[in-house]
Amino acid sequence: MIAIGCDHAATEYKKEIKALLEKRNEEILDCGTQDGESCDYPVCAEKVALAVAGGKCEKGILICGTGIGMSIAANKVRGIRCALCADVFSAQATRLHNDANVLAVGQRSMGIGSVLKIVETFLDTPFSGEERHARRVGLISEMEKKYFK
Ligand code: RB5
Repeated sequence: MIAIGCDHAATEYKKEIKALLEKRNEEILDCGTQDGESCDYPVCAEKVALAVAGGKCEKGILICGTGIGMSIAANKVRGIRCALCADVFSAQATRLHNDANVLAVGQRSMGIGSVLKIVETFLDTPFSGEERHARRVGLISEMEKKYFK
């Protein structure tokens, strides 16, 4: 299952991304928001991050104006590696190298065509599993143990 969430700045892109996920027959957990009324992006980022970190969803997608606030907030949850990607190369690289489990994109900063390609690439690319990349991801987990309560 894929968790998805957005704030008021990104409801249109959430609809478009959900349509893509439905076409791919993905199960979706929609963590809101559903309308254009102003809301706080960390609230939604936390819901998506917890669904992924807790194992209910295998990946998450977050959308706000720029994707920046969502990515900062999601990365405060232990076990979350959220990558803000503005191009397909980065979406592929963050899966191969960082084993990113949440993707953040921006409705105000990116075109919908490239966002949909980025989403597909993110979902279709596996973690490389190569020793050096696994070691580096492991070092990130060590940092969580050191600095998170
Ligand atoms: C909302 O105005 C905007 O700040 C938010 O969508 C996002 O871009 C934050 O990073």
